[in-house]
Amino acid sequence: MIEVVPLKAFTDNYIWALVSKESVYIVDPGDANPVLEFLNKNNFTLDGILITHHHFDHTGGIKTLTSKYDVPVYGPVNNRIEGITHELKENDSIMVFNEKFKIFEVPGHTLDHIAYYSESSQKLLFCGDTLFSGGCGRLFEGTPAQMHNSLQKLKSLSPETLVYCTHEYTESNLNFAVVVNDENDFLKDYYSEVKTKREKDEITLPSSIEKELSINPFLRLTDENIISNASNFASMTINKEVDTLKTIREWKDNF
Ligand SMILES: [Fe+2]
Repeated sequence: MIEVVPLKAFTDNYIWALVSKESVYIVDPGDANPVLEFLNKNNFTLDGILITHHHFDHTGGIKTLTSKYDVPVYGPVNNRIEGITHELKENDSIMVFNEKFKIFEVPGHTLDHIAYYSESSQKLLFCGDTLFSGGCGRLFEGTPAQMHNSLQKLKSLSPETLVYCTHEYTESNLNFAVVVNDENDFLKDYYSEVKTKREKDEITLPSSIEKELSINPFLRLTDENIISNASNFASMTINKEVDTLKTIREWKDNF
C-alpha cells in the first residue's frame, strides 16, 4: 500500500511523496527543501524521483536531492532536464515499490510531458500540469489537438482513479467552469464545497477521474451547454471537440 502525501512548495505547487514503510518516491520536486524536511522529520529515505515535464517548478530540486541520495530519476526524453537517469516513453512502465506504473505521453502543456499511472491495487494518476481539477494546463508548447488527445487518454482511465495534479488551481478553475458550464448543477455544488475548503486552507486534491468527468469542462467537450457558450464566445458555430477545447482554453487564458 502506497501512502501519498502532499508537500507544499512555492505558492501553490504540490510535490507528491509516495511513501511505503520508510521509503519514499518523490514526484516533481521543484524545490528540494520541503522534500528534505519531510525525509528528515520522519527518518525516511529517498528511493527515487519521478518527473513529468521540464518546467523548473517541477525539476529545480533534482540536483540537490541526487547530491544527497544516489537514486534513479525517471522522466521524459528531453535533454533540457539535467539529472534524468531513466528516460521514459509511451507504453513504458516502471516499478514503484510493488506497484507497476504505466507511462503515457501527454503533450500539450509542454511537448515532453508524461504522466504516471498505476492501475494495480491502487489506481493513481500523477499528471503534472496536464490535467488539473476543473481545468487543464496552459498550452505553452503543444497544440489544442495534442492536448485533446492527451486528455482523451486520461479521461478513459478507471473512474475511481485518484488524480494527483501539481497545483492547487481548483478554485480558480471552477470559477471559470461555472461560467462556461453554467447549467451544471453538480459543478455549482462542488464549487461551493471547494470554496469552503480553500477558506480553511484545505487541499482539494486528489480528485478522481469520475469527479473530473462531472466538473471539468475540458473533459466535457460534448456537453451542449459548453458548446453553446463556447460558440457564443467565439462568435462562430463550433462542431468539433478540439475546437471547443481551443476556444475554452483561449477564453480561460484571458478570464
Ligand atoms: Fe508546467
